[in-house]
Amino acid sequence: MAPVRITGAMVAAISVTMALLSIVLYKSKKTKPALPSNKNPRNGLVGAIGNTPLIRINSLSDATGCEILGKCEFLNPGGSVKDRVAVKIIEEALESGDLAPGGVVTEGSAGSTAISLATVAPAYGCKCHVVIPDDAAIEKSQILEALGATVERVRPVSITHRDHFVNIARRRASEANELALKHRKDEQKNGKTLEQVNGFHYDEEKQLFPRNCPGGYFADQFENLANFRAHYEGTGPEIWEQTGGNVDAFVAAAGTGGTVAGASKFLQERNPNIKCFLIDPPGSGLFNKITRGVMYTKEEAEGRRLKNPFDTITEGIGINRLTKNFLMAKLDGAFRGTDKEAVEMSRFLMKNDGLFMGSSSAMNCVGAVRVAQSIGPGHTIVTILCDSGMRHLSKFYNAEYLSKFDLTPTACGLEFLGVG
Ligand SMILES: Cc1ncc(COP(=O)(O)O)c(C=O)c1O
Repeated sequence: MAPVRITGAMVAAISVTMALLSIVLYKSKKTKPALPSNKNPRNGLVGAIGNTPLIRINSLSDATGCEILGKCEFLNPGGSVKDRVAVKIIEEALESGDLAPGGVVTEGSAGSTAISLATVAPAYGCKCHVVIPDDAAIEKSQILEALGATVERVRPVSITHRDHFVNIARRRASEANELALKHRKDEQKNGKTLEQVNGFHYDEEKQLFPRNCPGGYFADQFENLANFRAHYEGTGPEIWEQTGGNVDAFVAAAGTGGTVAGASKFLQERNPNIKCFLIDPPGSGLFNKITRGVMYTKEEAEGRRLKNPFDTITEGIGINRLTKNFLMAKLDGAFRGTDKEAVEMSRFLMKNDGLFMGSSSAMNCVGAVRVAQSIGPGHTIVTILCDSGMRHLSKFYNAEYLSKFDLTPTACGLEFLGVG
């Protein structure tokens, strides 16, 4: 073969090509590849709410032969599934004008919803006022106050009593609105204050809200359908996407009913074959309602009692009335879960999966195993991991407390559910 002769023109062409190539390489190094959207910075605290991971709970999946998936709601910034609800309630109220910018959101709750509202309200420039029973753990008021909320601790009474903490919270929102109205009128009196006109005196020291409070809004998590919509528009679609539509069943307990209603309605609209179930704790009337059509027995009727006489150790779930939110649920059946099963489940998840879960999450996992037993292996079952064990140290994770109620965990595996 004849030797190739390298001419001057060829050398010049090669050097130009090399130079162009190195410019291209340099440029491609400098411009970073676009990150997938879920890796992009989220927009403030509110942007960090939702889109929680869906994880395979390995121990339960391996033991049942089903894929048992848990939606990690405990990873929301406020620590629970209620962050979604707080955002939706505030956004809808601001949009409708029912909550004035800078106004105060009131709620009667000793639990996660109050913490989520207090967490989220400042992101909207709003305030939060929480009314809780004075037998609720003191840490709860401390957390709420640390988050900037005002807290009113009141005597626990029946829901039918005007001074039940939920009823007081509703009243506080009206009072804030009356105050705002007075303040506006005050400003309209030709520059004169009401004090100058008719001697009205606002003693800020003695009042719950500042004189210039622009108004109040009662969050009303039980009856406000923004709660349902948070899950119908958020949790449900996320589960659908994260499973690629490959989901056979959904199960969750109900407190307000928002989660189970929003997720079940969305999933069943997508695929009517997806079976949705409730897991109900002791003392709740919903199991009877779903399985027998009767909401509660006379003794259980809410309003006849000062406090829940069938106290369950699980917090935030179980109810004896039909809320507007729960009424939106599309359910195929219900299971009962016991306190002992929830305690055992929480220890099982901790030992086997490293999941440190709150009481309602543990109950939901009891529900997932019950569903697996009912529909058989080979199915995908989704449930909700509502909050972490961190908020449950004084009861659910307190050995002394548990032993007092004969709830000390003893199981080695899942034998308490008849598995293994
Ligand atoms: C920790 C926790 N888990 C579960 C629930 C129940 O969720 P939902 O109110 O959507 O029925 C609540 C409700 O307050 C809760 O606080």
